[in-house]
Amino acid sequence: MEGNFNDYFVYKNGKLYCEDVSIQNLSTKIGTPFYIYSKKAILDMINQYKDAFKDYPTLICYALKANSNLSLLRIFEENGLGADIVSGGELYKAKKAGFPSNKIVYAGVGKTDAEIMYAINENILSFNVESVMELDVINEIAGKQHKKANVSIRINPDVDPKTHPYISTGLKKSKFGIDIDEGLDVYKKAVKMENLKVVGIHCHIGSQIMDVSVYKEAVEKIVNLVFQLKKEGIELEFIDIGGGLGVKYYPQDIPPTPYDLANTILPIVKQTGLKLIIEPGRSLIAQAGALITKVIFIKDKKEKHFVIVDSGMNDLIRPSIYNAYHHIITVEEKTEKMIADIVGPICETGDFFGLDREIGKVNRGDLIAILSAGAYGSSMASNYNVRPKAMEVLVDGDKYKIIKEREDYQYISKLEEEVV
Ligand code: LLP
Repeated sequence: MEGNFNDYFVYKNGKLYCEDVSIQNLSTKIGTPFYIYSKKAILDMINQYKDAFKDYPTLICYALKANSNLSLLRIFEENGLGADIVSGGELYKAKKAGFPSNKIVYAGVGKTDAEIMYAINENILSFNVESVMELDVINEIAGKQHKKANVSIRINPDVDPKTHPYISTGLKKSKFGIDIDEGLDVYKKAVKMENLKVVGIHCHIGSQIMDVSVYKEAVEKIVNLVFQLKKEGIELEFIDIGGGLGVKYYPQDIPPTPYDLANTILPIVKQTGLKLIIEPGRSLIAQAGALITKVIFIKDKKEKHFVIVDSGMNDLIRPSIYNAYHHIITVEEKTEKMIADIVGPICETGDFFGLDREIGKVNRGDLIAILSAGAYGSSMASNYNVRPKAMEVLVDGDKYKIIKEREDYQYISKLEEEVV
């Protein structure tokens, strides 16, 4: 038998457990599909980040986009983390979960007036501003509200993060941030704006970064700009280097750790004396989660075998849109193997979790677990094909708690029924 994929989803007597909860027994009680999260996995990552950065004043802002379930947010909040948000909706959830405003940073290329107003009213730590027009608008709205808005400028350092093109964000051609060679001019404009307080500098170069040396390149460029700003008399409070640390998706992956990140960037950041902000999302939550789904049918064609399950791209879209690999295992350990496409019930060829995969030989009714699904799983889910979104469960030792009820048909169509 192969070894366990991680420490949180392990086989005991041939059955898959999340911590000390039997996934088979749980699914008999609550049905499928569901996301299941290990609290210990989340705490372990939080503690690694805190420990890695403990010797330098650092605010770790969890990127809500990775997974914004309120019960999970509470764990991050209770452990002293801040929040990195990208919308009014995320601000609402961050506040609901209890994050103090002075630990919330807000990025995004398209903030609406209403969202800007909301965030100014909440007195957030910083807007990470992505264009000159946005600076003007925040300045104007803050003026109307008789407030000063804290801003940082998102600088695009033109560094290739060597990851999937859809999640590379720090290249010149990308829509994000302000080009580094225009940075100085934009800061000069910003400090003159009456209703803004310029507090920091921000960058985020991409996601699922497996080679931390790209951070070195980016942070060196940012620190250079910080020194240029100092020369011009523009003093900042912090450097925010975004998120992006990669995680294990393939069994053979050896992802970088928070310690690797700290060792790479702290020596450079220290030269400035500025406080540090980091915005990890995926690396805090990916390993904690799995999507559990049941085999509905087996379909054998001449060329191929299909395992058709009761969850689809509406629950986990990463394989469909990034051709992302998620390791898939059976909940009951099997000695006999098969090679099959693991597909969902949705009317799209792109509705698959894995193609030509070797997995344990499953039958109708068997359960499978799609791993590393804690990040960008439930947060990217939809109701496509009018499929209710999956239930979500948090495991702590031998206890579990439903942290999101399964949607039903009435819930999905409610807002439409009201108007017909
Ligand atoms: N900060 C900013 C400004 C970001 O844009 C992102 C992610 C993060 C932090 C968090 O990055 P992380 O630590 O999670 O890599 N849906 C894609 C990932 C999109 C990431 C977008 N920005 C996926 O499923 O791979």
